[in-house]
Amino acid sequence: MQYSAPKGTFDIVPNPVKKEEGWKDSSLWNYIESVLKQTAHDFGYQEIRTPIFEQTDLFCRSSGDSSDIVSKEMYTFEDKGKRSMSLRPEGTAPVIRAFVDNHFQQSGSLHKLFYIGPFFRYDRPQAGRYRQFHQFGIEAIGDNSPYQDVEIIDLSLSIYKRLGIKNLNLLLNSVGDKDSRDNYKTALIKYLTPYEKDLSRDSQERLSKNPLRILDSKDSSDQKILAEAPSILDYLSKPAADHFDKACEILAKNGISFTITSKLVRGLDYYNQTVFEITSETLGAQSSIGAGGRYDGLLKELGGQDLPSMGFAAGIERILLTMKGQNTKIHETLKPTVYLIALGKEAEQATFSILCRLRSKKISAEMPFKTKKMQKSLQDASQKGFKYCAILGEDELSQNIIQLKNLETRSSENVPIDSIVSHLEKLSKACT
Ligand code: HAM
Repeated sequence: MQYSAPKGTFDIVPNPVKKEEGWKDSSLWNYIESVLKQTAHDFGYQEIRTPIFEQTDLFCRSSGDSSDIVSKEMYTFEDKGKRSMSLRPEGTAPVIRAFVDNHFQQSGSLHKLFYIGPFFRYDRPQAGRYRQFHQFGIEAIGDNSPYQDVEIIDLSLSIYKRLGIKNLNLLLNSVGDKDSRDNYKTALIKYLTPYEKDLSRDSQERLSKNPLRILDSKDSSDQKILAEAPSILDYLSKPAADHFDKACEILAKNGISFTITSKLVRGLDYYNQTVFEITSETLGAQSSIGAGGRYDGLLKELGGQDLPSMGFAAGIERILLTMKGQNTKIHETLKPTVYLIALGKEAEQATFSILCRLRSKKISAEMPFKTKKMQKSLQDASQKGFKYCAILGEDELSQNIIQLKNLETRSSENVPIDSIVSHLEKLSKACT
């Protein structure tokens, strides 16, 4: 019996054998994660890690019972204590739960948090959509300034820029405050009701449960009907319109281009005011590479103070697929340094001591313990991405030298055995 990874999931492995699966290379994931962490750090965000599963009710309360996530995509199970638990489908509600649980509100006013990890949605798997996927998310709790909105958007765009991703679109909208949404819902229902029987089945259901979500419909007849639908932007209350105008003004003043998309409503119920989505044409159907928005009422809803909040999350698989589609050059920071080859029994012991000394100096080094042909060893070293290969045979040993080959430039030099460690130390410092 042979087992495969569950449908909609995949392994992240060193050097994937199939070329088209190169984006599942663990060294690439490490690189992306290091850029994400560094960017979060540069913007003043600190890491938070929450459990992979939470009480099911947390997601029902925050995302909304009629959201796709809660109504059909959650991995829900009863634990041995007969409690309903769910694998986390998203990160915002767990962060807010942890914020309350850990009494964060007692320590200062603004909290800027980030997270990286796996999330789970039982959806139809396809390119860019998985049942276990990974998100990098940020949440800023405690500030209602439009500058905070722009900081989040700027951080989001910065991660893609630092990774070398191009041609992204920033779609922006406001879903207003509660008054704005109530007035707009009434207008939308009034407009859509005469078309009810021409709407898709999903949209007919949403008309009474969650009419705003109809704006998200990809169905072509829904889209025709929606073309003339009223715009939420015409129903914003004065404070909501002022907030949105100010956020747009700050974005424009800082050279961040965006497209106002009045039909962008997002699939989770906790949003208010500014919402945004970043899309990549390289991704095809699943074009959303990241998305977020303001969710001012969620902390209070989950038992905390009434503090405003705003956040964003990017799909790491979608980052990697976009980079693959755009042939983005990767800065391989994790390339191993030196591959040691011992030729003969006597050389073996001396080579192993050099290996230990290199590692004690934090120089990445490897040595095969099985005897191989020299050509095969050199091939292995190149394949694994080593920069140098150091060869010690009987001849070299008698002369007290070691042969050092640069596998990138193909140049070669003889280095005294006693100084090989300090020599490689100098070379690896020069590279960083
Ligand atoms: P979301 O739009 O549901 O928002 O997900 C954010 C991003 O996660 C998407 O733009 C996409 O890149 C990625 N993603 C979502 N589902 C999948 C999937 N099945 N497979 C692969 N990638 C996926 C949220 O999750 C909010 N919590 C974001 C947020 C944070 N809002 C405020 N703070």
